[in-house]
Amino acid sequence: MYARIIGTGSYLPAKTLTNFDLEKIVETSHDWILSRSGIVERLIAADDEMASDLALHASRRAIEAAGISADQIDLVIVATTSPDKMFPSTACILQDKLGIRNCGAAFDIQAVCGGFVYALNTADMYIRGGQAKTVLVVGAEVLSRMLDWSDRSTCVLFGDGAGAVVLQASEIPGIVASKLHADGSHQGMLTADGNIRHGEIRGDPFIKMNGQAVFKFAVKVLSEVVEEVLEENNLHGADIDWLVPHQANIRIMEATARKLGLSMDNVVVTVAHHGNTSSASIPLALDTAVRDGRIKSGQNILLEAVGGGFTWGAILIKW
Ligand code: ACO
Repeated sequence: MYARIIGTGSYLPAKTLTNFDLEKIVETSHDWILSRSGIVERLIAADDEMASDLALHASRRAIEAAGISADQIDLVIVATTSPDKMFPSTACILQDKLGIRNCGAAFDIQAVCGGFVYALNTADMYIRGGQAKTVLVVGAEVLSRMLDWSDRSTCVLFGDGAGAVVLQASEIPGIVASKLHADGSHQGMLTADGNIRHGEIRGDPFIKMNGQAVFKFAVKVLSEVVEEVLEENNLHGADIDWLVPHQANIRIMEATARKLGLSMDNVVVTVAHHGNTSSASIPLALDTAVRDGRIKSGQNILLEAVGGGFTWGAILIKW
């Protein structure tokens, strides 16, 4: 039995923040941001919009595309690092908002920008193991809330959004292979240290990043993990129809494509208009390319991501 994606959906908040807007907030320029990251603009959630609200819109679109009713979903997994509350999980809040009454399980996965590949892998395991038949997997983030808007090295990179997929048990191949990794020994390179003790935030709650170190680490491990997945399945870069990478930085995506011998024409790129939406970036990019007709039945699709932790992984899908 395979886990097959039968519907995708995504949602972006209404407010656009361009690089030119950022020039008025911090000492930066449109040219610097574009040349270093490939980002032109990003979307920022309204004050009263939570991760579950973005997730709800994306999920409804994915459920509609899948042609199922919400009640058929027996597992909800939300990848997020910016949950609505400490608890209940955003997945439980989403399950309630969607009106799913007979859900088997609902939980969040916290693997920062690696969250969506971790969540998709988990859904695949549930389906292959016979514990779930129809699974909703969502990446939803309001990371703009965790940004220090006076720190130009981070605040220009991130945006808010959500993407969702519905997976169903199928005899036809869907997810073919997954590889996940983690290494907690480099926590200081990318972190939001704050936590709550006795009702007060202790430590720095904002995202801190050593950009150059993260860049080098990302390029290295992403090249390794995509090779690992391809080799195990006797495939080469040339067999991949679409690479759908985590949208952190255009230069990281170009480096991974180069390593695979793939033209950038075979890479789905949304970073220019979404920024880095962390765990939402892959399902947002996937939905974009499914809806505009680039991703078609029978194609080989490769997803890859790296995020704070570090966590990283790649997933091969026969669409
Ligand atoms: N505008 C203008 N100048 C800036 C800005 C800015 N927004 N931010 C930093 N600078 C300055 C620095 O202060 C530095 O100035 P100095 O030379 O006078 O000291 C100069 O620009 C160069 O800074 P670097 O950090 O060396 O710039 P770099 O070329 O490495 O680009 C960037 C920075 C874009 C962050 C890059 O390192 C990068 O993309 N790293 C990976 C980040 C990433 O992808 N993170 C997410 C991955 S995991 C996840 O998604 C959570």
